[in-house]
Amino acid sequence: MALDGKKILLGVSGSIAAYRAADLCSQLSKLGLDTTAVLTAAAARFIGTPTFQALTRNPVYSDVFDEPESKRIAHIDLAQSASLVIVAPASANIIAKYAAGIADDMLTTCLLATPPTTPVLIAPAMNTVMWEHPATQANLATLRLRGVTILTPASGVLACGDTGTGKLAPVESILDAILAQLDRVTPIKHQDFTGIRVLVTAGATREPIDPVRFITNRSSGKMGIALALAAAERGACVTLLSGHITVASPLNPKITVVNAQTAELMHRAALQLFPEADLFIGAAAVADFTPVDVNDQKIKKLSTDSSGSSSLTVHLRQTADIAAAVGHAKRTDQVVIGFAAESENLLANAARKIETKNLDMIVANDITADGAGFDVDTNAVTLLWPDGRTLPLPQLSKREVAERILDSLYPLLTSRLQASVGA
Ligand SMILES: Cc1cc2nc3c(=O)[nH]c(=O)nc-3n(C[C@H](O)[C@H](O)[C@H](O)COP(=O)(O)O)c2cc1C
Repeated sequence: MALDGKKILLGVSGSIAAYRAADLCSQLSKLGLDTTAVLTAAAARFIGTPTFQALTRNPVYSDVFDEPESKRIAHIDLAQSASLVIVAPASANIIAKYAAGIADDMLTTCLLATPPTTPVLIAPAMNTVMWEHPATQANLATLRLRGVTILTPASGVLACGDTGTGKLAPVESILDAILAQLDRVTPIKHQDFTGIRVLVTAGATREPIDPVRFITNRSSGKMGIALALAAAERGACVTLLSGHITVASPLNPKITVVNAQTAELMHRAALQLFPEADLFIGAAAVADFTPVDVNDQKIKKLSTDSSGSSSLTVHLRQTADIAAAVGHAKRTDQVVIGFAAESENLLANAARKIETKNLDMIVANDITADGAGFDVDTNAVTLLWPDGRTLPLPQLSKREVAERILDSLYPLLTSRLQASVGA
């Protein structure tokens, strides 16, 4: 997804969670989104406008009569130029005013002036009683009927000390929802992968120790899913071989999801599915080691020695390397690319893996870098080829990284497919 040129109108209202809008704003700016913050008067009492001005490099609006450009009417201009409007946090008051069509300050006036085709997202945050109040729920139902997306607040201990629903949704899931909406409004890419069969692995494997415990890793599956979606939207027929993922499986008629929770099951499924694929992308974080023995019953606590300690040893054996197995099984009409998630010697380790696994390209990412690697929405990767070429990419959303990966391997893929047809 190309985020360049996309404009976000970020509304902030008077909730104790207003400070978290600064984090959201910072993440939007880092993704290259041109963000403008509009604060209610109450929000401006919780958090200062200079914070948003510094994070967005745009003027911050709060007063409907404050018009920096004499040739433009600020609220109309902002509302009409926005690719997406998000109100986070949304107070009970702003939700009520928006549902009633009140326009008595800059934010509510912008909301009313937003064209119906522009996606609007609302992330409420308030005390549980306010959230559960029939008035608030009725207002939210009204907004839903008008096509507004409501990002349900989380449950937990609230700032007021109560426990219940009302905490602002995690910034990461707000960001996910924004990116998903922007995706929907982005014009469909050219269908250059039509007829190409893609097999993508995603997520973490879970290696059982006993019926309740397992060894796993921090992979969310977001990168693999972004690749599956990007390929499907460019016309490919995709099989997503999925380990454990922390996000929803993609719903796309061109994606078939096959689940494989352990390294062994994923290895078996990959080898079974690979002959029917033109392109294999190994984005899953497959365990390198798995317990030698899996206990049939839950392992009981051990009795402690005189010092009060006790220990349990779990013997691990190395698992089969899926990318290497696929790389060595590859026909001349197939392309195989892998991922190298490294915490040191990134490029040297990645280059070695290209050779030993017989890959056509590797995507190397430094998992210790900010905004890259596991469980975040962005990635900063370097692409490497067997002939020594490298292409470092800036920090991008995982979806944009996926598009760049597909762009980079497209020429090789089509030349191999054409050669096999001609042969
Ligand atoms: C300390 C404090 C915390 C508040 N937190 C919230 C909140 O989380 N959610 C909410 O809906 N209102 C909250 N309020 C009340 C709103 O600030 C108040 O209803 C205000 O009129 C909202 O104005 P706005 O919707 O124009 O921003 C809080 C007020 C105070 C003083």
